[in-house]
Amino acid sequence: MTLNLKGGRLINSSITLSDGNLSTEVDSSVLKICGGYSLEGNVRISGAKNSALVIMAGALLCSGDCRISNVPLLADVERMGQVLTALGLSLQRHEDTLDINARDILTSKAPYELVTQLRASFFAIGPILARLGVAQMPLPGGCAIGARPVDLHVRGLQAMGAEIEIEHGICHAQVSGNNGRLKGARIYLDTPSVGATETLMMAATLADGETIIENAAREPEVVDLANFCNSMGAKIQGAGTGTITIVGVDKLHSTEYSIIPDRIEAGTFLVAAAITRSELLLSPVVSEHLIPVISKLKDIGVSILQESTDCLRVKPAQKLKATNIDTLPHPGFPTDMQAQFMALLSIADGDSIINESVFENRLSHASELNRLGAEIRVKSNTAFVRGVPILSGAPVIGTDLRASAALVLAGLAAQGETIIQGLKHLDRGYDRLDTKLQQVGAKIIRT
Ligand code: UD1
Repeated sequence: MTLNLKGGRLINSSITLSDGNLSTEVDSSVLKICGGYSLEGNVRISGAKNSALVIMAGALLCSGDCRISNVPLLADVERMGQVLTALGLSLQRHEDTLDINARDILTSKAPYELVTQLRASFFAIGPILARLGVAQMPLPGGCAIGARPVDLHVRGLQAMGAEIEIEHGICHAQVSGNNGRLKGARIYLDTPSVGATETLMMAATLADGETIIENAAREPEVVDLANFCNSMGAKIQGAGTGTITIVGVDKLHSTEYSIIPDRIEAGTFLVAAAITRSELLLSPVVSEHLIPVISKLKDIGVSILQESTDCLRVKPAQKLKATNIDTLPHPGFPTDMQAQFMALLSIADGDSIINESVFENRLSHASELNRLGAEIRVKSNTAFVRGVPILSGAPVIGTDLRASAALVLAGLAAQGETIIQGLKHLDRGYDRLDTKLQQVGAKIIRT
């Protein structure tokens, strides 16, 4: 794995595949889309980004070998790999399989430059503390979509016996008593945070006694992480419900595990078909993970058929109708699909209201969509979308991962040429989105 640093910082990057290895390269490329064409064909959905990142952190719990398959090719996955390498782990990637050996964790201190760029790497504080009894993790900091504190992670670890001090932007955690081993605890989360649930669940797998996490996040990626940990011998029950019970064990063993399909990537392609009034086949997917997304698409007038157990067919929509959306923790409508739906509703017939309830600053794509001719007014955390008959291509900038995806979708539907900058965000979380779109007939190129 390679890392490009300029002045000590990871710079604008894109990912390329060479000899099965992922490399990060200097890049100032843009996407050019010639919109207004329909799509047709099959799309292969990659492994889930949010599962891959946290399962890679989970590999820290095991002193043996973890073989993880269906790992998506993403800049974020590479950065997470770099965090683990910096901690002393050995990693080998071959195509979509990643081998991680965490027999030796050489340091309890994660590298500032990487952790501050990748929020999920902070979640590794749980397994590092569980394995070593000490961890030093830079705070992930704010990001484009909001402040994103880690107080729930910290309070949960304190309840399990860790002493935590935050100094100069570093979270210093230590377990002094109980031979350096965390103790099981009953933890109630004020909000069902995905990351806090995952941090605490990982920490509890090796703790002394039973941990109960109440008001836990119920996202499919939490269940995926629990299944991965259980495949190493952890005793986790109730993942996917609001109460997760973990009985700590002394040691976890080697495993082989395959990551679930990415529901957000699948949802993005469902919207790509809807916005271009096309027919697409998507596989593999777990349709139960997409219930809120499919249900909203049906309200909008898009029909989706279950072709086989893991395959969905989207039919070309005759007419797109306005609807209202409120983002919520799972099984509510995912905040990670809000931007893509805003692009779709911008050309639906009528007025839609989108309320972003999970993050405080996640509507920045509205002004970029307006550049393409959309009529969206934002007040606080609510976007009022008045559907227009057609969008028109323009130069736009993606401000965060899903905002960039929304601009790609809008560009596919817009008349003329759309040029999208800010691809470092897109490449963080989509596995070759432009290539997959090209394969189903989109006129999209990276230059
Ligand atoms: C994860 C996902 C992200 C998704 C989000 C919500 C990963 C790597 N990322 O992010 O794609 O958009 O879930 O589904 O899995 N909060 C606190 N204190 C905390 C932790 C969170 O107040 O200690 C708040 C956050 O500010 C936010 C809300 O809880 O308003 C939900 O955040 P959370 O579920 O923790 O999101 P992440 O795990 O960071």
